Amino acid sequence: MIFGAGLRAFLMAVAPAAALIAYCVAVGLIAPGPAALIAAAVIGGGLIAVRRRVHAERAALKRLNRLSEEAEAQAEALRYKAAVADRIISSLPDPLLFLDAQRRVVRANRGAERLLEKSPVGRDVGEGLRHPDLLAAVDRALAGEGPQQVEVTLPGPAAATYIARIEPVDPPPRRVLSAAEDGAAAPVLLVDLQDVTALIRSEQMRVDFVANVSHELRTPLTSLTGFIETLRGPAKDDAEARAKFLAIMQEQAERMFRLINDLLSLSRIELDEHSRPTETVDLAEVLETARDMLSIKAREKEMQIALTLPPEGPATVRGDEDQLVQVFLNLIDNAVKYGARGTDVTVAVRARDGKRLAVDVVDKGAGIPAAHIPRLTERFYRVDAARSRELGGTGLGLAIVKHIVNRHRGRLSVSSREGEGSCFTVTLPLAAGADARRDGGRDGGRDGGRDGGRHNGAGGLHATG
Ligand SMILES: Nc1ncnc2c1ncn2[C@@H]1O[C@H](COP(=O)(O)OP(=O)(O)OP(=O)(O)O)[C@@H](O)[C@H]1O
Ligand SMILES: [Mg+2]
Repeated sequence: MIFGAGLRAFLMAVAPAAALIAYCVAVGLIAPGPAALIAAAVIGGGLIAVRRRVHAERAALKRLNRLSEEAEAQAEALRYKAAVADRIISSLPDPLLFLDAQRRVVRANRGAERLLEKSPVGRDVGEGLRHPDLLAAVDRALAGEGPQQVEVTLPGPAAATYIARIEPVDPPPRRVLSAAEDGAAAPVLLVDLQDVTALIRSEQMRVDFVANVSHELRTPLTSLTGFIETLRGPAKDDAEARAKFLAIMQEQAERMFRLINDLLSLSRIELDEHSRPTETVDLAEVLETARDMLSIKAREKEMQIALTLPPEGPATVRGDEDQLVQVFLNLIDNAVKYGARGTDVTVAVRARDGKRLAVDVVDKGAGIPAAHIPRLTERFYRVDAARSRELGGTGLGLAIVKHIVNRHRGRLSVSSREGEGSCFTVTLPLAAGADARRDGGRDGGRDGGRDGGRHNGAGGLHATG
């Protein structure tokens, strides 16, 4: 093959030379003989050399083209990788800032722009993040003290706590910097701000919860231990004291029992809070059950529980009957407990709109100061802890209500006026196909304090966002 190609090249080079010589001989420019042969050989050799050179240059050109295509593909791959890295950095939830050796922000991702409200690029990092500990850590890292980590709470309308990690980054090699960039603008530090506010809050809640449970259990236990000691010692033979103390001891033991039951039911409710109930429940039946269960307690305080049901047919909601009974037992129990002796508690069902029903539980009692309303559904939160305990409360009732209402995709709102009383409103979605137009006329009267601002905490407490 190679030999064949060489021969062909030789013949192709020699043939025009031979033709030229033959022409020259024919017109008498060259005499036929050895001179003509030598001339033909010289011209043919020259032509072969020229052809070879042209070939070599063509091959070199091809190689060059291939190299340039490869270089272009590599550059494209690098641009793609840089764009992906860019997108990852900008979409990371943590605010990220790249700083140069002068502490100026060279680059900031979207999280950082959101935190600092405007782009910090080109400015000193201290202009946007005015926290002395954070800036001191940045300065230490710039001074070559290696990676730094500080916890900082940044002020603002929604103060948040961050773990700031400051890591030195290798600056790009000088030849990589474009002509427009000078070495000073190259990033040398990465500041990563991890928002740990929710983590700290939930840790605090856990600590508070354990402390509260321990405290709530310790109080009746201390009292029980005290009475046991008294009964074994000084009151050993005092029958009258024994009867009295045993009654108190029973009360304390029952209180511990209630507390544990409430805690267990709270954790059960929390467990299935995300699975929406599927039964269809008649709210009227639920309310009648709750009212009947509390009627004796109400009578002891000379109170009546007045129930106003929708005039037309059953009010059906999608729900868990036992849990809904628990909601209204807790709310009516509070209304009886904190309502004034001799007043009435009213429980009224009304249609909110075509999709929801609202139930108002209204008492005439001391009411709740506005500052307390947003915190009422926190576990163990009581406006007057001593009074609640005296009334046998554990402070978990409204926390249970909140979680059940959440599970039902409902809403809890409170309005209250000090010295007059409170209204707790539970709004629940109607069961599919149920007719909500059974009580349109009464809607809009009083819900969540929409009564000219007379009531505290207008809708300030919602079980759902
Ligand atoms: N109708 C109301 N009127 C006035 N204050 C109320 C009313 N309902 C609740 N509160 C206040 O809210 C606090 C929390 O109520 P919650 O029902 O969670 O606990 P509790 O009634 O003290 O105890 P329990 O766990 O037995 O229900 C109460 O301690 C009380 O201070
Ligand atoms: Mg209660």
